[in-house]
Amino acid sequence: MKNKQSYQWNEMTMGTCYYPEHWDKALWARDLDRMKEIGISTIRIGEFAWSKIEPEEGRFTFAFFDEFLDLCVEKGMKVIFGTPTATPPAWLTEKYPEVLNCNHDGRPYYHGGRRHYNYNSLIYQHLSARIVEQEASRYAPHPAVVGWQIDNELNCEIGEFYSKADSDAFRLWARDTYDTLDALNEAWGTAFWNQTYTAWDQIYVPRPGNPGGVNPHMYLDYYRFISDSAIRYCKMQADIIRKYKKPGDFITTNGKFRNLDNHRMAREQLDVFTYDNYPNFAHGVDDTVRPNLLDRHWAKNLTEVRSVCPHFGFMEQQAGAGSWVSRMLAPSPRPGQMSLWAMMSVAHGSDFVSFFRWRTCVMGTEIYWHGILDYDDRDNRRVAELKDFYKKLKALDPVCGAEYTAAFGLLKDYDNDWDTNVDSWHRRFLEHSEEEIFVAAEVNHTPYNIINIRDDSSVEELAPYPVLFYPHPTLINEARVAVLRAYVEQGGTLILGCRSGYKDMTGRCVMMPQPGLLQALTGSNVTDFTFTSPEEEPVWADWDGQKLETPIFNDILTPLEGTRVLASYANNYYAGAAALTERRVDKGRVLHLGSTFSRENVRQLLAYIGVLEPFAGLVDAPETVDVIQREKDGRRFLFLLNYLPQAAEITLKQPGILLYTGERVEGSYSIPAYGTAVFEV
Ligand code: GAL
Repeated sequence: MKNKQSYQWNEMTMGTCYYPEHWDKALWARDLDRMKEIGISTIRIGEFAWSKIEPEEGRFTFAFFDEFLDLCVEKGMKVIFGTPTATPPAWLTEKYPEVLNCNHDGRPYYHGGRRHYNYNSLIYQHLSARIVEQEASRYAPHPAVVGWQIDNELNCEIGEFYSKADSDAFRLWARDTYDTLDALNEAWGTAFWNQTYTAWDQIYVPRPGNPGGVNPHMYLDYYRFISDSAIRYCKMQADIIRKYKKPGDFITTNGKFRNLDNHRMAREQLDVFTYDNYPNFAHGVDDTVRPNLLDRHWAKNLTEVRSVCPHFGFMEQQAGAGSWVSRMLAPSPRPGQMSLWAMMSVAHGSDFVSFFRWRTCVMGTEIYWHGILDYDDRDNRRVAELKDFYKKLKALDPVCGAEYTAAFGLLKDYDNDWDTNVDSWHRRFLEHSEEEIFVAAEVNHTPYNIINIRDDSSVEELAPYPVLFYPHPTLINEARVAVLRAYVEQGGTLILGCRSGYKDMTGRCVMMPQPGLLQALTGSNVTDFTFTSPEEEPVWADWDGQKLETPIFNDILTPLEGTRVLASYANNYYAGAAALTERRVDKGRVLHLGSTFSRENVRQLLAYIGVLEPFAGLVDAPETVDVIQREKDGRRFLFLLNYLPQAAEITLKQPGILLYTGERVEGSYSIPAYGTAVFEV
């Protein structure tokens, strides 16, 4: 499989997001000097500045960015140039209203916000291609430019599209996919409620306001279509930039948003993936759902991004309090937290950290989205903290390019993810289990990677992991079962949860004993099933005298010949029936749990397989401290991140070198409140 993502930073790099169009030109030179003084060597610019280059249709002016980029060369500042298509100019949407995305009632969005365009308007594609061509041909050769960002946060703000252009394109997509209306009617199960289509022009993007809901099979295809549309739009821009960019410069886009196969987009179109890191969004969540995690919960997103691109960068790293005038009331990062969050990014694999933004904007909806500097432009505590962070970051240059160490893998795929958009049963299981697997991994210090499974996945992608969880592969096909089988036959352990294998890839339920196509691997038969009732005593199972939680849903399992029962339900009407089975398949094995996963049952499963505590010989750290390892060329770098407002005591069981100072440490060590330490061990 061809993977374009070849770009890697060759040293730890610090950046910021700068908007020359927001400031008096008189500030530019001093801003760049101050950035350099702090350690910032790269800035991202331009991503909303269409009108600075095309103030009216077809008239292009370059004086503004010419002047700024020339100044960057003079000051030794490198630039990532953003294409401006997230915010079309007023002249454009006024003259061509068909470029606007619509809400699900078909009402167009208006000028004044952002991301209010649709990917499928032919005129928007044409005008976008033209501005990108103008920018890339002029600025890609410029010596200040080192990379390109396509658009800004594809599918952020809104990930659904209901304009006329989208219906037109969806019809073509459906035709390409199914060829005949008979095939489409079959795949979408249109015999149900008399939905049969007899002509292609009867097909529209789903119209969710309808009484009786929408067809779930069509909806699933609609999400595939949105993803394809976004990727095609990204490709259109990438193809243009690639014609002009200097060798060694990169193409990226920032952020990871819903209804978009970010893996495919990155693999096929980008040289590297970048992410926007705002752990403050995790504040204020219900503490009973995510005890102790709060900002640390953001590690779940970082794990997802690492799966898209192991050596990613951070295009936007939170610097100050975050909110818009219209929403969010987030606190300021406390002293130390900005660096903690940035170090969390580095621990997860990022070698480029660019802070959002240089100076807090004095106008517009983001006046409360605080950058490094405040409105008053004075040096503040964040500047002081950043200088300190930079010293630490540069001490980590040997870590640049190092791999994140994972003890197990979590399989995910977009078909099942998108099915949870439409299927509330599936959503309940998958969200719960993925959350609990994440929490279990965090509090037990058992790091994991997410692996994206596709029809063309190879066993080499799965083989590095001794254990793979695939919590609820509701939709499955022969190709994916085959690669899972190959993984297990080679010695891997595969763990599946309830409701596995009962749909095909159209989302139709299969008329087979569950877990459907997976039965050949699990050697188990689901003979009955039920949601557990919140009114009743929680259901649990006995596992060799241990209590095994079996929350939310219970598949009541019957082992086929050759399958071992590890645990049986202990209560409810199915007490005594199998809850967890194990089947040997060649050199490996498959475990089938009849329920969803909980942080406790995941801990027990990881212990049973023997991967629970990979760092036990290296470090003793409390649950509240994150322990992460990156490794390269036989060198191991251990990151310890303290998310709490009190110091945390850890014990290094082997001598380590604290990279920030070069000091040799062994035994007990105190990490300050919101502090971090990185040891070479
Ligand atoms: C990001 C976006 C930035 C800025 C920031 C703070 O999602 O890319 O342009 O809006 O959030 O809201």
